[in-house]
Amino acid sequence: MATAAREHWSSRTGFVLAAVGSAVGLGNMWRFSYLAAENGGAAFVVFYLLVTLCVGIPVLLAELVIGRGSQQSPIRALAHYGGAAWKPLGAVFVAAGFLILSYYGVIAGWTVRYALVGLVQGFPADVAESFGEVATGWDAFGFHVLFMGITIGVVAGGVKGGIERTSLVLMPTLFVIVVGLAFYAATLDGAGPGYNYYLSADFSKLFHWNVIKDAAGQAFFSLSLGMGAMLTFASYLSREEHLPASTLVIAGADVAVAFVAGLVVFPLIFALGLEESVGASTVGALFITLPQAFAEMGGVGRFVGLLFFAALVVGALTSAISLLEVVVASAMDGLGWSRHKAAWLAGGAITLLGAPSAWSTDVLGVIDQVANNLFLLGGGLALSLFVGWVMHDPIAEAADGTEGIRWFPIWRWLLRVVVPVFLVLVLWYAIPETWDAVAGLFS
Ligand code: PHE
Repeated sequence: MATAAREHWSSRTGFVLAAVGSAVGLGNMWRFSYLAAENGGAAFVVFYLLVTLCVGIPVLLAELVIGRGSQQSPIRALAHYGGAAWKPLGAVFVAAGFLILSYYGVIAGWTVRYALVGLVQGFPADVAESFGEVATGWDAFGFHVLFMGITIGVVAGGVKGGIERTSLVLMPTLFVIVVGLAFYAATLDGAGPGYNYYLSADFSKLFHWNVIKDAAGQAFFSLSLGMGAMLTFASYLSREEHLPASTLVIAGADVAVAFVAGLVVFPLIFALGLEESVGASTVGALFITLPQAFAEMGGVGRFVGLLFFAALVVGALTSAISLLEVVVASAMDGLGWSRHKAAWLAGGAITLLGAPSAWSTDVLGVIDQVANNLFLLGGGLALSLFVGWVMHDPIAEAADGTEGIRWFPIWRWLLRVVVPVFLVLVLWYAIPETWDAVAGLFS
């Protein structure tokens, strides 16, 4: 089944950085800290760690095991272990890749634009008004096309020459920028109140289904789980890879960047007294409140803002690459297309599919909800059942490249019972809400 010609990563670091690149993205740089600040601060952070540990990490390891073991893209990988009946699930993964990248590219386009604005002219004082123009219409679509062009170019370059090379350069750059900005933010007057707003613990806010659902959705989105992105990257690994170790590094880096990003964002906002305008929309805070802070900070603000948005572009790009790779690898394996053909055709189609999101932030928001609440959580549920109950001996598969791990039986037990029960409960709550959001769009 696996063709001899299948490309592989040239090093372990290359794979890990590419997978961390997939995980670290727009989801980390803002949504995590925003959710934490809104939902109980340090209490939310602790709960999120728990969800990552008991739900995210088991599913991540499950994806890596299926990918490496089958050496195939999602549709064939699932058929490899579960028979043809599981192919439709793989097809849903590919559809999720299409859907998520279509609006992710639009938001990424905004970040490209802001980075360029910071570079060329500095942030305008009237960001709130100008965001309306930036966010929708031909402006938004144009930058989406630009961003998608770069993404397609990287993916067309291949696993080693495109994806791995890009991640090796960009991910360390991103870490340095984010950590550097956190140190800078610590020197600002707003640092104390900012940290306080972000992290002061309030357990009473935690125990609501809404918060639990948001934490679950965020964990899946942030770790790129539930649609075969990690599975696809793992299909370019060799048998010697120590999967549990990689899993922990990927999840650890993802959580760390999300946490540190919050240490950047809130001091900046509080230093300029902009906390009032953080408002109800996560996107608004990222694209209006922060640029406003950069504008008011003058020359330093321009530089800091440029770095901040450059980090966002980098995070978005390495995530978009992994989304496109799911579709491209599936077209190559399943239809026999060349990498170039698959990248440009699929990438082009996804770019066009982004048009509704580029012209309406309402549409964008609803697609985001559908993708998160239905596709990723549903995909995660199916994957955990698949590896927990259908796959013949997942523990043996996971043990390749290790000396055997004591917690493997716990892993399987989590996939069999804990993860599915948790996800069913979350979906029970998320499905009607998502349905209402979709219906709202048409009413
Ligand atoms: N993990 C990415 C982020 O946090 C988004 C993503 C989701 C990427 C699903 C790939 C697959 O921005």
